[in-house]
Amino acid sequence: MARKDDYYNRAKQEGYRARSAYKLRQIDEEVDLFDRGDTVVDLGAAPGGWLQVAAEEVTEAGTVVGVDLQRIDELEHPHVETVRGDMTDERTRYYLRKALGVDPDPDESEGTPDRPVDVVVSDMAPNMTGEYQLDHARSIHLCRQAFDTALELLKPGGDFVVKVFDGPDLADFRDDVEAQFQYVRAYTPEASRKRSSERYLLARGRTDAPVSAGDRLTVDVTDVGEEGDGVARVDGYTLFVPGTEAGETVEVVVDDVKPRFGFAERVE
Ligand SMILES: C[S@@+](CC[C@H](N)C(=O)[O-])C[C@H]1O[C@@H](n2cnc3c(N)ncnc32)[C@H](O)[C@@H]1O
Repeated sequence: MARKDDYYNRAKQEGYRARSAYKLRQIDEEVDLFDRGDTVVDLGAAPGGWLQVAAEEVTEAGTVVGVDLQRIDELEHPHVETVRGDMTDERTRYYLRKALGVDPDPDESEGTPDRPVDVVVSDMAPNMTGEYQLDHARSIHLCRQAFDTALELLKPGGDFVVKVFDGPDLADFRDDVEAQFQYVRAYTPEASRKRSSERYLLARGRTDAPVSAGDRLTVDVTDVGEEGDGVARVDGYTLFVPGTEAGETVEVVVDDVKPRFGFAERVE
């Protein structure tokens, strides 16, 4: 029996709304995407296979919000909400923020906007016309909408998974994602159809640092960490500076940037 039928039949037997549920399952098995209690946003969520998998993984302690152009039948899980709309439309993003309980008008609020989301996944796909260039361009456009949403809503350290179709604009898109996450890899789940050019970019650890590797700056060392390294704060971000002591002002070069903290080397 063809592989696609295996997944189709399994989905029927196991109560999943779409065979694509197994793609997200395999992604989760590959990189351990979800934790109990996570808040997850699922873009392009209809009919709801990914919503079911995400809801199972985060359990009743978590929250999952799905968005799609199509109506999504209600799920049994009480902590799943859905928004019907087009992700390229600002109104849909407004309702998504509302569903997440964050300020729906961040432009009008003061201070740092709320970013409560642990994982953003997007399985959005355009209606295929068969015209390769057009389909690819429309797919990248949807990927960029998902990426903007991820940057708007993800916590530092949060993860982003997006379906992409291979083509000439993919490398630029991947470069842009790599600039915002600790690491990015492309992955094709076994459940993807063999002849499909679809794959998923798995972007782990959204970085949220006001500095980049290679930056040279002067910092005040205000503290000493558990490992004995000097600690400096840059706009609230923690930089460890080995070989320094509290009270010193030193010139440093940033050499490693992680979502919540980084390392810098003292410049003599
Ligand atoms: C492959 S299906 C998703 C299947 C889903 N992951 C599941 O497991 O049930 C792709 C979905 O993307 C949605 N989509 C495409 N463009 C969209 C857009 N601009 N805004 C919201 N959803 C969109 C389509 O309506 C379609 O339901």
